[in-house]
Amino acid sequence: MACKKWYMGTNTKMYKTIAETNSFVSDLCQYTEDLSRDAFELFVIPSYTTLDQANRHRNPDLLKLGAQNMGWEEKGQYTGEISPLMLQEVGCDLVMVGHSERRHVFLETDEMERKKVRCALDHGLICLLCIGETEQEKNVGKADDILIQQLSEDLSEIKPEEAGRIWIAYEPVWAIGVNGKPVTCDYVEERVKVIRHKLSELFHDLGPDVPIFYGGSVNNNNAIDLAQCPGLNGLFIGRSAWNAVNFNQLIRMALAARSV
Ligand code: 13P
Repeated sequence: MACKKWYMGTNTKMYKTIAETNSFVSDLCQYTEDLSRDAFELFVIPSYTTLDQANRHRNPDLLKLGAQNMGWEEKGQYTGEISPLMLQEVGCDLVMVGHSERRHVFLETDEMERKKVRCALDHGLICLLCIGETEQEKNVGKADDILIQQLSEDLSEIKPEEAGRIWIAYEPVWAIGVNGKPVTCDYVEERVKVIRHKLSELFHDLGPDVPIFYGGSVNNNNAIDLAQCPGLNGLFIGRSAWNAVNFNQLIRMALAARSV
């Protein structure tokens, strides 16, 4: 059975303070409370230090809360890391693993992502695994190989019956952030087909249930087109979602485009 829900989420990166995150999540819950969550899921992934209070300022029936990263052990000599137990303690539903900034700025490897994905599932968290090719990989025609490699390695320890707690964000590195280049829906659709095919190979009948999101410079001009991109199950947004009024607008634009 294919994934039937539509997802909208944001990663606030290293931007919002505790006070800013509190008002962001409570405003978002308030602005979107009329939207049924039967077929729609909303999530916010703010900085570690904001999680505890963000959890108190959200309505958990309306908004899932996630962390931007996680260490792969419960405890140990890992200065600077945060464990899954610590994320559970502050109310996280999910954890993001392998964001392009983790892979390319902080040089995380697929070996690290594999351990983090395993650890997240072992602790009952949903794991949002981010994958994506660099511009150079795209230019030499290697985008699909990279996506397949990241999925194969990062999900290699996950059994098909655990696929229900895996979410995938396809975020081409060259399309993300202030220097991001525009992506076309055709390009996204082709990559999503490759991702879906690999997920079905890994998880068999449960592969189609895993939601696939697109992220990278989603904004008010391209959200409608991207929301209609065949095979996609959601949008994962940075800059354009950090204002709750605008994020609410993007959510409504995407949901309306989906129901056309
Ligand atoms: P932008 O939407 O700002 O390009 O960021 C996307 C992203 O990195 C989400 O994780």
